[in-house]
Amino acid sequence: MSDRQLTLFSKTVIQLMSEGQLHVMHRYIQHGSITTLDHSLMVAYYSWRLNRRFRLKADEISLIRGALLHDYFLYDWHVSEKWHRFHGFRHPTFALVNARQDYQLNKIEEEIIKKHMWPLTVIPPTCREAWIVNVMDTFSSIVEVMMEYRIFAGLKRKWYERLDEAIFKYIKENIIEA
Ligand SMILES: [Fe+2]
Ligand SMILES: [Fe+2]
Repeated sequence: MSDRQLTLFSKTVIQLMSEGQLHVMHRYIQHGSITTLDHSLMVAYYSWRLNRRFRLKADEISLIRGALLHDYFLYDWHVSEKWHRFHGFRHPTFALVNARQDYQLNKIEEEIIKKHMWPLTVIPPTCREAWIVNVMDTFSSIVEVMMEYRIFAGLKRKWYERLDEAIFKYIKENIIEA
């Protein structure tokens, strides 16, 4: 893939994927038939777009990296196991512990991961990047659940279609077919 084809978004995703275990999230389902990797890509992509569209002045690379890692808990939350009971409340901490092990995180990226489930996790976000991901995570989760219904097939196409093509290509070549 030539450098010219890649946007800042694709470059950041590919870089992050080459460093840690982001690809493992492809094994787990988040909502309906959407994997945790797809979900995180959508949250990252739409957070990035929202920031540009409304000129929210977020640090773009931290925003994309934090969003990609916000659900880096690396297990199937549908399988009931004692150690990850109360998943909704606890998974931001699991994600943060795993992400710290595999990546060098800055303060913004840590805050994004920690606060993405607010208000479930009582203390509100303290930076704009964490607010953006908090909002986009909620919004994307609703869309992902709706997409499961045939009546919203158009919505599914649209929501996916807008994702960066370079990323799809990269995932197909390096993760699914590898
Ligand atoms: Fe989450
Ligand atoms: Fe999420």
